[in-house]
Amino acid sequence: MKKITVIGAGTMGNGIAHVFATNGFDVMLFDINQEALNNSIINIEKNIKRQVSKEILTAEIGQSSLERIKLISNLEQAVKSADVVIEAATEDETLKLQIFSSLSALVTEKTILATNTSSISIGKIAAVTKYPENVIGMHFMNPVPVMKLVEIISGYKTSHETTTTITELSKELGKTPVACNDYPGFVANRILMPMINEAIETLQNGVAGVSEIDSIMKLGMGHPMGPLQLADFIGLDVCLSILNVMHQGYGKPKYSPNPILINLVTSGDLGVKSGKGFYDYSNGIKNASVAYNINK
Ligand code: CAA
Repeated sequence: MKKITVIGAGTMGNGIAHVFATNGFDVMLFDINQEALNNSIINIEKNIKRQVSKEILTAEIGQSSLERIKLISNLEQAVKSADVVIEAATEDETLKLQIFSSLSALVTEKTILATNTSSISIGKIAAVTKYPENVIGMHFMNPVPVMKLVEIISGYKTSHETTTTITELSKELGKTPVACNDYPGFVANRILMPMINEAIETLQNGVAGVSEIDSIMKLGMGHPMGPLQLADFIGLDVCLSILNVMHQGYGKPKYSPNPILINLVTSGDLGVKSGKGFYDYSNGIKNASVAYNINK
C-alpha cells in the first residue's frame, strides 16, 4: 500500500495528502478544479514549513514530501495505479454517489475505495460500486496533520481484510484508528453536532452571546475551541449537511438544524472559509459577529 489517490483538494483533501506524503507515500491529489489544486499545494507547503520550523519534520523530509504529491485533474490517470483511493469531496450525497460510481468503473478489484464522509452511509456509497467489500469510511479530523483520530467505519459489506488494511494504514500515518459501525453521523458527529446545534439554540434563546458561550465551553470544559468557533472552523455548510443527514436518518427533533445555522448558510456566511460566520474574520482579526452578539 504505497500509492494513494486523494479525491478533492479542499481543506480535508489537502490535510490527507499532507499526512500521507510526510509518511513516505506517493500521493496523487485529484480535483476537477485547477484553481483548487493550485491553492492546495500552497496550503500544504505552508503547513509543511510550519512543521519544519517546529522541528516536527526535517527540511529534507519536508521537501521530499512535497515532491511526492502530484496534482492531477484527470480521474482515470489519477486512480489507475492507486492501492487506496480516499474521497474527500464536498459533503453531498449525490456528488459522492456519482464519484464512487465513476471510481468503480476505473479501478481494479483490489483497490480500496475509502471515503472521508462525516456522516453519509457507507453502505449507500458501497452500493453504487462493483466491489462493495472494498468500500470503507476513513474519517480524518481537521486539521489532519494535528488530530490523532481516524474514525474507521465499516459498512455491512465491507470485508474484514479492507477494515484491517485501513486500520493498519492509519497507524502507519501515526494516527489512532477507532472502529465504529455505519449509522448516520457515526460516533464523532453524532455527539459533536448536537452540541454545536445546542450552542446555536442557546445563542438564539439569548442566554449568552457568541464569545460568552465559547468562553464557557473552553474554560469550563477544557475544549480547545468553543462550539461556535469550532462550527466556523469546520464550515457551517458542513455542519448543516451533517445535521440534515442525521435528522433524516434518525427522525429525531434533536438533530433538526437550528434556523440560525440555516440562515447563515443560505446567506453564504460559512465560517472561516468565507470570512464570516458566528465570528467575523476580516483583516485576520476574529470578532464575534455583531448580529449575534448579546452585547451589541
Ligand atoms: N498543519 C500542521 N500543523 C498545524 C495545523 C495544520 N493545518 N494547524 C495547527 N497546527 C499546529 C500548530 O503548528 C501548533 O503546533 P505546536 O503545538 O507544535 O506549536 C498546534 O497545531 C496548535 O496550533 P496553534 O498554536 O496555531 O493554535 P491552537 O493552539 O489554537 O490550536 C487547533 C489549533 C489544533 C486547531 C486547536 O484549536 C484545536 O484542536 N481545535 C479543535 C479542532 C477540532 O475539534 N477538530 C475536529 C473538528 S470535527 C472534524 O474535523 C470532523 C468532521 O466531520 C466535521
